[in-house]
Amino acid sequence: MSKSVSMTVNGKSVSAEAEPRTLLVQFLREKLGLTGTHVGCDTSQCGACVVHVDGIAVKSCTFLAVQAEGAQVTTIEGLAKDGQLHPMQAAFKENHGLQCGFCTPGMIMSGIDIARRIPNLDEHTVREQLEGNLCRCTGYHNIVKSILAGAEAMGK
Ligand code: FES
Ligand code: FES
Repeated sequence: MSKSVSMTVNGKSVSAEAEPRTLLVQFLREKLGLTGTHVGCDTSQCGACVVHVDGIAVKSCTFLAVQAEGAQVTTIEGLAKDGQLHPMQAAFKENHGLQCGFCTPGMIMSGIDIARRIPNLDEHTVREQLEGNLCRCTGYHNIVKSILAGAEAMGK
């Protein structure tokens, strides 16, 4: 039986019907049309679905929409402000941190979370922290470089 679920997504109040089993990623993509959050696996491994719920990175494929009732949710679509990319998005662009781009929304949302949680990041730490994000295209080198650059830009 579905019920109305309300939350704030990218600064806007939204309400839509969801079943108790509806995943947050389904709610975002299918009810709100926010298709920047991707689904790359069905085993909670790839991280293509990472969004922020109340400022914390979560895999939206393992989070129920009803758990986000009343929460502040940010997706990749909510990062740019006034036509300006978020520093982490700009860093991925500048450092060629993507190839096909499928993993990129999750990488960027995780990168911001890592940068917020851990001061003075180094390459080893970023690689460790990215354990939950998989990329099938790159050798991760430019992703790590992008996150280090983005973290530095966020600190400014
Ligand atoms: Fe969420 Fe892969 S779709 S971890
Ligand atoms: Fe293609 Fe990461 S850039 S999956």
